Amino acid sequence: MKKILFFLLVFLVIFSSCQKQKNVENEKVLILRYADNQPDFFPTTKAAKYFAELVYARSGGKIDIHVYANGDLGDEMQCYRQVQFGGIDFSRFSLGTLSAYYPKLNLLMLPYLYTDAEHMWRVLDSEIGDEFLGEVREDGMSGLCWFDAGARSFYTRMPIDSLDDMRGLMIRVQENDIMSRMVSSLGSETVQIPYGSVYSALQVGKIDGAENNMPSYLYTGHYESSPYVFLDEHFRLPEMVVMSRSAKKQIEEIGPEFVEIVRECARESAAYERRLWKEEEQNAISTLKKMGVAITIPTDEEKENFKAAMSVIYNELSEENTKLVESIRNK
Ligand code: GCU
Repeated sequence: MKKILFFLLVFLVIFSSCQKQKNVENEKVLILRYADNQPDFFPTTKAAKYFAELVYARSGGKIDIHVYANGDLGDEMQCYRQVQFGGIDFSRFSLGTLSAYYPKLNLLMLPYLYTDAEHMWRVLDSEIGDEFLGEVREDGMSGLCWFDAGARSFYTRMPIDSLDDMRGLMIRVQENDIMSRMVSSLGSETVQIPYGSVYSALQVGKIDGAENNMPSYLYTGHYESSPYVFLDEHFRLPEMVVMSRSAKKQIEEIGPEFVEIVRECARESAAYERRLWKEEEQNAISTLKKMGVAITIPTDEEKENFKAAMSVIYNELSEENTKLVESIRNK
């Protein structure tokens, strides 16, 4: 009898401990980290938070994505490395950064490639855009969706009215050699500096100017020392939200169907970001004007001079890439 009681007790202890574990399991929430180098109120960061809300709701609270803005988890290059190792689960990257790792992505950011934003979205929303999302797969990463980052133009410490004025200027570019080559085809010198260090480089006169979209130019305060914009819109750099391999694996462990749910939420957050971006771009230009920034819109002739100078890069493409660029142009 004593023996039976003993086994019963052991059974009860094991059973109750299993139950406890199961309850803990049921309550377990997967916490994942998402990095963005823009401020909290920026369209990309707002969309990241929207993505996190959607994922939380659609996973029934099982997946909780924490968004870190302002480059708090590092600059884009550092974030990329962390996504490789699973230290960061999701991050939004400018193509200027990603194409340093995936050279094929440079094709999507060639100078004056798209006639306008609508053209770029026709390309990215087609099978071409999907194919390029699929390019980002090193270390098991996945490209989830495209965000808008508008068109980039030059801004400088001294006025720019023509191609001649670009000669000899020291211009900051992203950490990407193709970008350096494209900008130096204008006769400028280039230097690759992380985004977060451009403000001080401009302030101390280490560089004469940089290039970016107007919301970035406004919110970084670059206009304080470089109040001349030459609105030539030479690049349109879409941005990609990337998921790490380890995030994908952990999500799959909750249930394989959640990976597709996360992808769907990312696509919805991208549609939201695109709406915010349109408003923000208009708003940035009118705020900059009020602040006394001189915005020069190039004449058609001057724009053609910029296009012609930067077009040398197209001559260096392989036959296969030239065909792809043609299909992008014809979309
Ligand atoms: C844009 C982009 C940033 C990027 C920056 C840059 O602002 O949104 O993610 O870092 O350009 O020029 O480096």
